[in-house]
Amino acid sequence: MAGSPDVGYVLKRLRPTAPAFVALKEESRLEGYWMLVRLADSWSGGRNKFLKRGEALFGAWHGRELAGVCGLNIDPYFEGRGHGRVRHLFVSARHRRSGLGRMLVETVIDRARHHFAVLNTRAPQEAFGFYERLGFQPVVGEEFVTHRMMLSQDRKGG
Ligand SMILES: CC(C)(COP(=O)(O)OP(=O)(O)OC[C@H]1O[C@@H](n2cnc3c(N)ncnc32)[C@H](O)[C@@H]1OP(=O)(O)O)[C@@H](O)C(=O)NCCC(=O)NCCS
Repeated sequence: MAGSPDVGYVLKRLRPTAPAFVALKEESRLEGYWMLVRLADSWSGGRNKFLKRGEALFGAWHGRELAGVCGLNIDPYFEGRGHGRVRHLFVSARHRRSGLGRMLVETVIDRARHHFAVLNTRAPQEAFGFYERLGFQPVVGEEFVTHRMMLSQDRKGG
């Protein structure tokens, strides 16, 4: 398929300081999304560098262009370390609906299976359908979680 992620995109661990990240952050801000601004602020302030057990920040590259970002953190809204959280997911508008969001989040899910019993996220309304398509369950009545995936059956080690 043209634009298929396995021919077009390369996922790598990301440091959100590269010029390509700054360009994507600006695009997201102009669209009214703040997840990459918050990511840059918490990185530069030293509050979140994705260094705790299981954590990772991924960038999806299309040539020299950064086309998407997705992070995995220990969920700070829950006690202990059993909950992972999908964070800072953003795909450039030019690259949407070609499987890149799925590629990023499935990479995070695969990693999360080794470290967490559940995976949470708080999605904007317009992304609900995307998460549900990927197998997340909608969550009602929790302030910090709109969608959750249970991973416990696949959890390995402590
Ligand atoms: C939400 C977002 C990450 C989706 O990325 P994407 O690359 O367009 O998604 P994909 O092409 O990988 O889509 C995966 C599946 O979800 C479906 N899908 C994608 N966006 C959808 C939407 N808004 N509503 C319903 N289904 C959607 C696709 O049809 C596809 O289904 P399929 O694989 O069964 O054919 C992207 O639109 C985005 O960055 N939006 C702005 C920021 C945002 O909302 N981020 C989420 C913050 S938690």
